[in-house]
Formats: sequence, structure tokens, C-alpha cells
Amino acid sequence: MELDGAVVIVTGSSSGIGAATARLAAGRGARVVLAARRSARIEALARDLPDALAVPTDLRDPTQIVRLVNATLDRFGRVDVLVNNAGQGLHVPVEQVRIEDLMAITELNFYAPLLAMQAVIPPMRKQGGGAIVNVSSMTSRMVLPGVGGYSATKAALNLLSQVARRELAPDGIVVSVVYPAVTATEFHQSLAAGGRVGGGSWAPKPHSAEYVAEAILGVIGSGEEEVLLTQGWDGGAV
Ligand SMILES: NC(=O)c1ccc[n+]([C@@H]2O[C@H](COP(=O)([O-])OP(=O)(O)OC[C@H]3O[C@@H](n4cnc5c(N)ncnc54)[C@H](OP(=O)(O)O)[C@@H]3O)[C@@H](O)[C@H]2O)c1
Repeated sequence: MELDGAVVIVTGSSSGIGAATARLAAGRGARVVLAARRSARIEALARDLPDALAVPTDLRDPTQIVRLVNATLDRFGRVDVLVNNAGQGLHVPVEQVRIEDLMAITELNFYAPLLAMQAVIPPMRKQGGGAIVNVSSMTSRMVLPGVGGYSATKAALNLLSQVARRELAPDGIVVSVVYPAVTATEFHQSLAAGGRVGGGSWAPKPHSAEYVAEAILGVIGSGEEEVLLTQGWDGGAV
């Protein structure tokens, strides 16, 4: 998939990895559609980028996901790439997981990417293809105490993505997963509950949002099934 001229929806683009992905994609010629709840932030970013559209969206509301994709089609007439990036953490031990918190992050981390995929599949199929990148987490590939609830939502997304990749291949729609590790964003200040996990023998140096954004754009280009951003690569550390 070439980014130049492509219409790219980035969810969770009011901060962190999503904002960095939107900026980088626009810099490479993409027409970017920004989705998040903080409308002032995405509207300001859209003004900064050429031919970008901000669609204030609460992704926990299925009707707003449909509205996001319809707004994209109304403005650009197509959708080439969906980056399902919005997400929230829940960093407490299993014993302390409140079911309301788990339901809320499941709506955002698992149901919303599914509903967004379902909304873009018909137009992508009609166009003859597209790319979907689901942003997961390295915590879903580890057994890390303290993040079980969050990791479980991402593990569900991983398997859903793997199945979708096989189901959609005949339509030319390529589904990939990027697995960020600890990244320096607002994520750790906006957890549904709990605090930053780390310290002791596990205190990795965070990646930058731009480093993760590069990986997301890379996978759009390559169509690889997954990219694991293991910690410890100094070039990407903040
Ligand atoms: N940072 C890390 O260490 C790390 C590590 C592994 C994986 N990840 C994953 O990377 C992705 C991006 O996170 P980040 O690090 O960039 O964190 P971030 O800076 O906190 O960004 C999260 C984004 O999600 C959006 N969001 C939250 N709830 C939403 C809702 N109900 N509707 C629409 N948008 C919503 C936020 O926008 P609004 O608040 O404006 O709605 C924000 O733009 C997430 O999926 C996260 O799980 C992060």
C-alpha cells in the first residue's frame, strides 16, 4: 500500500502514537482522518496538516464509528487504510479488576476495532483492497503481573486480527498487528485504573511515539502480519 494520496483513518489521534502516526502519514502524502473525543485537539491537528479531516468520535459508541466512516466517504469518496489505535490501559492485579472498568476498556480496545473493521470492509472490498492495522501491546505477548485485564483485551484483538487477515485476504484487504512496548505518551496518565507497571528488574526505557508511528507506517507498506516492538532498541528510546 502506497501512502501518497491514500485516505487513512487514525483512531486515537488526539495524542501519543495516533497523533504521531497522523503527522507522519500526512508528511508522506496521505489524506488523514482524525478520530478521538477531544475535538479541540484533533481539529487543531487537522488545521496543521494538508487535506485532513477531524471527526470527533467516542469509539465506545457504535453509531459514532459508523458516522466516522461515513464522514470519511463523504469527504474523500474512499478509505484505503484504517489504523485502530485508540486504547486505554487497566493496570491492576486480577483480584482488583472492577468489571465496569474491564467492560469499558473492552468496548474501546476490542469492540471498537471490530466495529471499525466491519464499517470499512465494504468500501475497501468495493475499491479492490485496503489495509487495516490494529495496535495491540507487547503485554499481550508476555505474562506480566498487574496488567491481566488490559492484556486480555489486547490478546482478544490479536486473535481477531489473525482470523480477519485470513478471511479478508481474498478481497485484497491486508490486516496487520503492531505490538508497541512501553511508549512515552499520555497512556500511563489516563489508565482506567492502576498505575504504571515497571520498576525493579523490569524498568524499560520507553520508545517514542514517533518510533511506533514509523512501525505502523512500515507495516502499511509491507503488509507484514505483525511487528513486535521489543524494548531495548536505543535508536527509538526517548
Ligand atoms: N504507551 C504505551 O506504553 C503503550 C504500550 C503498548 C500499547 N499501547 C497502545 O497504543 C495505543 C495508543 O496509545 P498511546 O500510548 O498513544 O496513548 P494515549 O496518548 O493515551 O492515546 C490514546 C488515544 O485513545 C483515544 N481514546 C481514548 N478513549 C477513547 C474513546 N472512548 N473514543 C475515542 N478515542 C479514545 C484518546 O483520545 P481522546 O481521549 O481524545 O478520546 C487518545 O487519542 C493504545 O491502543 C494503547 O493500548 C500503548
